[in-house]
Formats: sequence, structure tokens, C-alpha cells
Amino acid sequence: MFQGLVDFLVFLILSAYYIIESIIINLIPRHYRAGWRETLRGEIALVTGGGNGIGRTLCSKLSRLGATVVIWDINSQGAEDTAAMLRQEGGKAHSYKCDISNNDDVYATAKKVRQEVGKVTILVNNAGIVSGKTLLETPDAMIKKTFDVNILAHFWTTKAFLPDMIAGDNGHIVTIASLAGLVGVNKLVDYSASKFAAVGFDEALRLELEVEGKRGVSTTVVCPYYVSTGMFEGVKSRLFPILEPDYVADEIVTAIRSRDKVLLLPSYLRIFLALKFTLPMKMLYTLGVRVLKITQTMDTFQGRQNAKSQLNGQLDGKND
Ligand SMILES: NC(=O)c1ccc[n+]([C@@H]2O[C@H](COP(=O)([O-])OP(=O)(O)OC[C@H]3O[C@@H](n4cnc5c(N)ncnc54)[C@H](O)[C@@H]3O)[C@@H](O)[C@H]2O)c1
Repeated sequence: MFQGLVDFLVFLILSAYYIIESIIINLIPRHYRAGWRETLRGEIALVTGGGNGIGRTLCSKLSRLGATVVIWDINSQGAEDTAAMLRQEGGKAHSYKCDISNNDDVYATAKKVRQEVGKVTILVNNAGIVSGKTLLETPDAMIKKTFDVNILAHFWTTKAFLPDMIAGDNGHIVTIASLAGLVGVNKLVDYSASKFAAVGFDEALRLELEVEGKRGVSTTVVCPYYVSTGMFEGVKSRLFPILEPDYVADEIVTAIRSRDKVLLLPSYLRIFLALKFTLPMKMLYTLGVRVLKITQTMDTFQGRQNAKSQLNGQLDGKND
């Protein structure tokens, strides 16, 4: 009884401290907070899906801050093009062909990276795929592939690199999820479900590291709205602007430097999320359908043509 009261008192005191800390941190623009970790020199950053889109832009920004960058992609040409671009800018970059949906490939390529480059200290689980069809139109194999790439791969890469991060008391695991991992979207049932899983992966892993006392390893989950990389080619957004990859990559790098736990892009969308479990579901549905017209964004989805053939190649086991 007495111990219970002491624990509750400690909780109240810590809560007051954390609320004040959070208010102060949120008042400092993220750009200035990033200055707490001036450079990323000495870090080895591995980005999955670094051969295109957000991943490629992110690789370039990590490299400019001094990190040695390791690019993994199922598209070896894309990965090598990114590495060549970074080297041309004066950075240190290494590219590897790796199908992250195959755990044996992940473990074998991780071993090579350790021998040829060193111990990875920043892991960005970025590679992702989308089918963009209704549930009944989506073939079973595609649903499984979406889960293999968008979430199960996070388990394999994290298992491969986390032990060295814990041993060195220095590490950062970044999960590129999606706003569709916080809000369900029609024609994205498989994608949304895999991204909800990615959000859960980050949250549970962060708690586990905390409870196990592995404080040197941080995690960040990133949930962006649509980004103009071509992955969601054709989508139309009525109220919120489609984001630029450069802006998204800048925000991710800053979140890594300031060890932010959650990055929502654009950040004002947190207001809608706060309402999600507060307002009646029917009211939210009407807001989404009639006012924000979120349910119509996927009506014009085409996706990237080469992504479709790449996805079919992955389903056939004929990659690259
Ligand atoms: N583009 C958006 O609108 C958007 C919005 C929110 C979240 N995201 C997420 O951001 C991440 C990056 O998206 P993007 O728009 O840059 O996508 P993208 O299609 O431009 O790039 C994804 C990269 O992942 C690689 N890849 C695919 N399957 C792979 C596999 N099995 N093994 C290794 N590499 C593989 C592709 O070859 C490609 O280079 C994804 O996880 C995506 O779900 C994207």
C-alpha cells in the first residue's frame, strides 16, 4: 500500500517534469534542436529502398552530414546510381542488392556489410510497396508481398543490426510508416494494415528497449501524407498538399538528429488524429467523405508503371 502511494507520487512528479520538458522542446523549432547533433560523422547509416524516391533523397542528406551511407535495394542499378551520386558529392557510399522480403538475403547481406563497411548505427527501414486495389481485387500473393516488404522485413533488418547497436550503446532505428498507418484508407487495405503494423513495431520496440535498459538505441516512426515520388502516381488530394520528397527527407534527418520519437508530416494533421478516438465515428466518416474527401484520393491512383513490373517480378521471384 505504502509502496503503491510512493510509485504514484513518483509518477505525478515525473509527469509534471515530462509535460514541461515536452512543451519546451516543442517550442524550439526542430531545425534548431537538430543542432544538438551537429554532424553524423562516424555514423554508418543503412537505408533500405535507397535506390529511389524518399530513400535516395534521404541518403544524400545523411551523406552531406558526414555519415557513411549503405544503400540496399532490390533494384541494384537504382542503389548503385544513388551510391555514385553520393560519391560524386564527396561522400562515402556502398550499394548492395538485397531483397528485404527474404530473411536469408537480409542476414547474408548484413554480414557482408559488417565485414566490408562496419557496424551499422542508423537503420532506416524505408523500402515499401503498394498495390492500390480494393481488397477483393488484390491477389493473395500481392497481399503477402506487401506484408513481407512493408513490415516483416523490419523484423529481419532489426534482428540483423540491433545486437551491434546494443553492444556499442549507440543506435537508431527509423521506421518509415505512413499516415495510412494511423488512419485506414479505402483501396489501401493491405497497405494500411501493413503500415499500422509498422507503427506498432516501432512503439513496442521502443518500449522494449526502454524496459531492457538499452537507452543508447533510439527509435523514430515517420508517418507522412502522400509524397510525390511516383509511388502514388495519379492520386489527387483536395485539401492537403502532396508533399515533396526533399521536404520529407529534410524532416526525417532532423528527427534523427534530434532523436524525435514520432514524426507526422505535415505535423498539423495531429489535430485530426487527436479527434479520432474522441468524436463519434459517424461524424468522422462524414468529415472524411464529404469535407476532406479523403475517400476519393485513390480513385485516380495509377502507381508507377515500372513499380508494377518490379512488383510482378518480385512475385515471380525474378527480381531486377
Ligand atoms: N510516396 C508516398 O506517397 C508515401 C507516403 C507515405 C509513406 N511512404 C513510404 O515511404 C517509403 C518510401 O516510399 P517512396 O515513395 O520513396 O517509394 P519508391 O517506390 O519511390 O521507392 C521504394 C524503393 O524500395 C525498393 N524496394 C521495393 N521492394 C523492395 C524489396 N523487396 N527489397 C529491397 N528494396 C525494395 C524499390 O526498388 C524502390 O527503390 C515507403 O515505405 C512508403 O510506403 C510513401
